[in-house]
Amino acid sequence: MSSRPAIRDLELMLAATEWPDKPSVLQAGCGAESHVSLPEDFYSVGIDISEKQLARNDELSTKIVGDIVTYEYELEAYDLVICWNVLEHLERPEPALAGFARTVRPGGLIVLGAPNIRSLKTLATKFTPHSFHVFAIKHILGNKRAGTEDHGPFPTFLRKSMSPRALRDFARKKNLSPIFYREYDTMLLRLRERTRVLYQVYRGASRLLQAITLGSFGGAANSDYIMVLEKPEATRPAN
Ligand SMILES: C[S@@+](CC[C@H](N)C(=O)[O-])C[C@H]1O[C@@H](n2cnc3c(N)ncnc32)[C@H](O)[C@@H]1O
Repeated sequence: MSSRPAIRDLELMLAATEWPDKPSVLQAGCGAESHVSLPEDFYSVGIDISEKQLARNDELSTKIVGDIVTYEYELEAYDLVICWNVLEHLERPEPALAGFARTVRPGGLIVLGAPNIRSLKTLATKFTPHSFHVFAIKHILGNKRAGTEDHGPFPTFLRKSMSPRALRDFARKKNLSPIFYREYDTMLLRLRERTRVLYQVYRGASRLLQAITLGSFGGAANSDYIMVLEKPEATRPAN
């Protein structure tokens, strides 16, 4: 289980869900590893645009090299779809989201984890070049492999259509129910582990931005969100 309370809550919710026999999960943009622990009996299919990332992943039963935006999703094929830290990398998140809604079974769940467009981390990411992201992850967060051999950071688009508000609109249109929502802060956690000074600077700047924008942007503990959408059970036709 994750040490992060928001992810742990999600994992507990997934563990408490009644799944059918031999449930299946599609990990969309699976990367090298999953950050959400699942009950053990899930059959796990991963799709990723990077062959190198897929090759590093040893948690999957089936691997697909493909683009989750253009992939032809099979109708109602999976009990669970997880798309974790990928929506921000899509130039057009909408077709991928529509694909998830198509491929999840009635009664199944779509788990979306992504950066929150309102947070300081995400605004800074959106308005700085990719080369700066590589620099920051390498030299501030200390990941020496950053930007090499398909290791992150990956180019980001951070479209409005992946914001929690847009996802709620999307859910309404597709008749999906948002059943779980949490915000948490990966940036503060990573900075606190790495350097106390930058942690304080980032926290102060986030609060200042929140005050200046009257709560519209910034704030602490909200750099990322988790949303779970449920597809309703098929309704039986009336006799
Ligand atoms: C930040 S990583 C997240 C990986 C994994 N989901 C996780 O939680 O660690 C983003 C992943 O999305 C993949 N990706 C980016 N755009 C994609 C696309 N259009 N189709 C499929 N995968 C994509 C990248 O190759 C990368 O493995």
